[in-house]
Amino acid sequence: MSTLRTARAVAHSNIALCKYWGKRASDPPSLNLPATGSLSLTLDALWTETEVAPAAQDRFELDGAVHADDAARKVFAQLDRLWRAAGHGGARPAAAVRSVNHLPTAAGLASSASGFAALTLAGMAAMGGAMERGPLSALARQGSGSAARSLWGGFVRLDRGVRPDGEDCVARPLFPANHWDVRLLVVQTTSGKKAIGSTAGMERSRTTSPYYAAWVDGSDADLDRAQQALAARDLATLGAVVEHSCFKMHACMLASQPPFSYWNGTTLEVVRALWAAREAGLAGYATIDAGPHVKVLCEAATAPALAKRLGELPGVVAVQTCAPGPDASHEVLS
Ligand code: PMV
Repeated sequence: MSTLRTARAVAHSNIALCKYWGKRASDPPSLNLPATGSLSLTLDALWTETEVAPAAQDRFELDGAVHADDAARKVFAQLDRLWRAAGHGGARPAAAVRSVNHLPTAAGLASSASGFAALTLAGMAAMGGAMERGPLSALARQGSGSAARSLWGGFVRLDRGVRPDGEDCVARPLFPANHWDVRLLVVQTTSGKKAIGSTAGMERSRTTSPYYAAWVDGSDADLDRAQQALAARDLATLGAVVEHSCFKMHACMLASQPPFSYWNGTTLEVVRALWAAREAGLAGYATIDAGPHVKVLCEAATAPALAKRLGELPGVVAVQTCAPGPDASHEVLS
């Protein structure tokens, strides 16, 4: 089949409990191989829906607005990659990509994980290629590292692998969503424009931060400890690893030259209030990505009290409570 069908996919966003930060050497660099493995929780309340359909010319619509920018270029580069991976030769047929992000509006929350996972599933289904999740995860990774993890629900691990072709750098599900009824509170703080994109931030950390080597060296041990704690549903042990992974990553950024940070003042206030709440018996553990929001891992029973407490802090815009989310899914429409 050298034409496109119409296919639609839904993929849920994920938050890394053990972080990916930094890329290892790869040839070509577009393989996008991580220097550290990562372990994530897929979220029920945040997702992207994407449709890929035949069209007279390439067109990318996101949340109702047509884009002809860098975001659009990345989307079509991903479709080109999928076309080759599906075994087709020649030029890829033009496609209309329509994507809707079901993420809190204007929150500045990364949508690249759910976005590239949904695009990869819908695109491959539209092209009639193989829908095996492992290889699709490797393809999603080339759009965005975190997207490799969003093909599955529940708890997902992505090892960094050692092969230069990246074929051993594929995510896999560890435990399904119903393994453990935890919550992840997304504590949104006011955000401006991101100081530095994640790829540039990773490169600056790798090339200038004296802490980078230590960060990479410790990552496999963090992953294994986190996986064991997850298997035992041991929140205190898992939470300690989650915070250690997060703060090592952010320390690495602060020690870069020139230094940078994605935090604002409220980010730190939320972390301090969370630590105080923990002292007082309300256990939650923080993680922060390439943005100013704080994500808090806690038991379901603790979530309402913790969400209320953190939501009352000055500078906190909203708190959204997420539970473990489902696998990504797709359907071929015509
Ligand atoms: O996948 P990217 O390029 O958006 O990078 C993700 C980096 C972090 O969100 C900070 C960590 C992670 O593992 O998701």
